[in-house]
Amino acid sequence: MLRQVVGVDIYLGSRDDDEDDDDDEEENDGLQEFEKKRWNLNAPFRTDASTSRLRREQFDLINSRFLAEGINTNRWRPYIRELKELLKPGGWLQMVELELVFQSDNGRLAPSPSEPLFVWSEWYRHTMQQCDKNPRIGRLLGQHLQSEGFDSVSVGPRRLEIGRWNSGPGLLDTDIRATMSKTIETLLLWPCAGALAGQRPPMSPDQYRAMVQGAQTQLQDDSLRLYCQVYVAPFDAAVLPLTMQQVYCIRTQAAGGTSSTMIEL
Ligand SMILES: C[S@@+](CC[C@H](N)C(=O)[O-])C[C@H]1O[C@@H](n2cnc3c(N)ncnc32)[C@H](O)[C@@H]1O
Repeated sequence: MLRQVVGVDIYLGSRDDDEDDDDDEEENDGLQEFEKKRWNLNAPFRTDASTSRLRREQFDLINSRFLAEGINTNRWRPYIRELKELLKPGGWLQMVELELVFQSDNGRLAPSPSEPLFVWSEWYRHTMQQCDKNPRIGRLLGQHLQSEGFDSVSVGPRRLEIGRWNSGPGLLDTDIRATMSKTIETLLLWPCAGALAGQRPPMSPDQYRAMVQGAQTQLQDDSLRLYCQVYVAPFDAAVLPLTMQQVYCIRTQAAGGTSSTMIEL
């Protein structure tokens, strides 16, 4: 079980000098124990000749999440295969992917161009496909994990409720509305309002602003009972902490021992 991965949080990623990551500032209390490195996750890991290259059977636990906008459509299956190769025998892979399609628990958000959140979701789907990304990759993860020989694959969509409209226990114990609002504002900025020199962007800045503001206003409306689907596994909340970092898949048995190595991608 996951409890055998104790207290080790090694984040192998590469710090970009231009990344402003306040959490990692040196004036923190010294608890920052990970180093950031960056790999091109769309390239086969074996083509990396750097000293920080990922090696076979290196990790007990891999956490790969929220990469839908970054991994190319046909890369997902080899990516999962290569993650398996990085795991020690008995290691674990957990994956979480969000499906950014806004839905309404009471059906009050119609799939119609008059609904700003629907319009935003449609632009998201369109631009993802144009960039060779799969906006619905969460639905395929279970299939890919199984095809690549993982054991104990258990997959299911969970509702990520937006706002405070549900008095019952949610997937998360925090309200993610502010995060969603920011996501709506930033995610499509370049694909919709940006363009290379000499090209025309799909939208003017005013059109982009209007689309975003409309969607953000709807996001505040609890009467819509909004949610998105997040694909996580195993689909058993009873054994999982209700956070976004949920176990997606167990390769075989969990690693033994008292210390383990983990990577977050
Ligand atoms: C939404 S964030 C998620 C980050 C992290 N997995 C987490 O859950 O906090 C996506 C990150 O993946 C990085 N990314 C996207 N595509 C990538 C790729 N092909 N190779 C390497 N990094 C990528 C982005 O730069 C961004 O930092």
